[in-house]
Amino acid sequence: MSSVVIECKSIKKTYGVGEYKVEALKSTNLEIYSNKLTLLVGPSGSGKTTLISIIATILTPDEGELILLKQSMNGMSENDKAHFRCNNIGIVFQSLFLIPSLTIAENVTLPLIVGGMDETKAFAKAMKLLDQVHLAHRSHSSPAQLSKGQQQRVAIARAMINDAPIIICDEPTSALDHVSGFEIMEFLHGLSQNTSKAVIVVTHDPRIFSYADRIVPMSDGEITSEETHK
Ligand SMILES: Nc1ncnc2c1ncn2[C@@H]1O[C@H](COP(=O)(O)OP(=O)(O)OP(=O)(O)O)[C@@H](O)[C@H]1O
Ligand SMILES: [Mg+2]
Repeated sequence: MSSVVIECKSIKKTYGVGEYKVEALKSTNLEIYSNKLTLLVGPSGSGKTTLISIIATILTPDEGELILLKQSMNGMSENDKAHFRCNNIGIVFQSLFLIPSLTIAENVTLPLIVGGMDETKAFAKAMKLLDQVHLAHRSHSSPAQLSKGQQQRVAIARAMINDAPIIICDEPTSALDHVSGFEIMEFLHGLSQNTSKAVIVVTHDPRIFSYADRIVPMSDGEITSEETHK
């Protein structure tokens, strides 16, 4: 059963002022569903990262309303937003932000430790997730000792550790060869199906379009009309 978990209502975002003004997001309406992998596609500069940053509550829109899990984000304090984000949104940034001085397992436990969970418990949970992304045997390695695809999987495990219903990945396959890219997409698609999550993946990469339940194309700050549903 799929349900609406994200609603963007007439959301706008402009950067800069005067001659430097960029309308990164024109009035945008979008609904995103659970149980589906939604691809956000479009040329460089079309507003994809801006849109997912707004959905992830990292960036505040200039106008419009964002509703996540039936709750309006408008007027919410930064503190409450951070709390909400921690429980409900897992994000994999394009530049993964793994912490080089920590082991793989420590990187994955980080959101739990920050949230105050007991270390033994957090470690057990991290190991379970690392097992799911086939990296349990590398839990003591540091990020630099892993391949790009493996690092990508660590970042995904970390994004999953709070069991958030919304998972967002910015360009998860851009630095990967075909096989690693397909593996990641297979995993993310399975995640949406098996755990009812809403998974949003930003990509330029037409090779992975076949993994989408839905493709939302963006161009010049707008969602263009045609949408492909599987
Ligand atoms: N902090 C910023 N200040 C000024 N302009 C910005 C800022 N961030 C993005 N922009 C501009 O907003 C527009 C949309 O950028 P955005 O990063 O959302 O595009 P994108 O679709 O993610 O591109 P890419 O595929 O290259 O990552 C671009 O014209 C960009 O130059
Ligand atoms: Mg981007």
